[in-house]
Amino acid sequence: MNFYLHPQIVSTMSSGIGYGKTILFGEHFVVYGLPAIASALGSKTVATVENAIKYELVDDRPATPGYKKEKFDEQVESNKLIYKACGIDVEKTPLKVTLAGDLKVASGVGASAASAAAIARALNEHFDLGYDDARINEVAYEGEKGYHGKPSGIDNTAAVYGGLIWFVKNLSGGKNTMDLLKMPKPVEIVLGNTGLTSSTKEVVEDVKKDREAHKNKYDRIFTEYIHIADSAKAALLKGDMKSVGRLMDQNHGLLNEMNLSCDELELLVETARDHGAPGAKLTGTGRGGLMIALTPGKALQEKVAKAIEKEGFETFRTRIGV
Ligand code: MEV
Repeated sequence: MNFYLHPQIVSTMSSGIGYGKTILFGEHFVVYGLPAIASALGSKTVATVENAIKYELVDDRPATPGYKKEKFDEQVESNKLIYKACGIDVEKTPLKVTLAGDLKVASGVGASAASAAAIARALNEHFDLGYDDARINEVAYEGEKGYHGKPSGIDNTAAVYGGLIWFVKNLSGGKNTMDLLKMPKPVEIVLGNTGLTSSTKEVVEDVKKDREAHKNKYDRIFTEYIHIADSAKAALLKGDMKSVGRLMDQNHGLLNEMNLSCDELELLVETARDHGAPGAKLTGTGRGGLMIALTPGKALQEKVAKAIEKEGFETFRTRIGV
């Protein structure tokens, strides 16, 4: 169904939100149908949609320098896919779409998914589409395809539903598994920003080629990872942060073997561990972007964040399991 509305018919401003996310376990593995655990962040992207004379996209999100320029073409493609999925022709029904919110966009925070979910929600409200969260998630997934051809769907799922989620992509195209995990209490984390923007599309493609070239190595890595994911789920549910940390370190080791780390990420991981974090790893695409350190307790969170800042990197202090 297409909407060719005259601007005067609907004149209000509508808005929607999408949460940022951090992946605790399983980035890249999730693309191959293995389970992953992600937590939504407290910060979000807010999209507003209003009628206009001419289509316009205004991106006011706070951002890591260079991020928006690097992602611009993918963002244009993503937005086209979102409008198409909603049956909206922005040539015939021109809109002004504004992105803002307190999620500082960078590689690794699920920025593309947060914005896709926010736009989908704002369009849903503006055109009274009657979408439920499941449909918003489908639209956000379409939007994610603009950033890389075959997203696993974990980022948009976290962006739409929030919370701490256990996610398994259904490789046969059926419904993905999404279970909400309940930790006994929220736990502090620190995200360290390398300041480097990486291309999810390129990195996912590199992993695919590397796996094809080194099948035995990847079979062993995938088997080890499955144990890590299962143990991590049990440890999170029990609130056993010592084990969660150890498993994060192991997960980082496997990602390192897959050539997904870089000097900056290694420095961040080491700094966090040296200052008492029970575990730290890269989070998201890798080869730049963000590092996540588990830092139970406000005092440890502060200590680790300060140490990272002293090395010249930006940090975000937040919690998982909220
Ligand atoms: C990116 O946030 C996570 C990846 O696993 C890609 C995906 O899941 O689509 C690298």
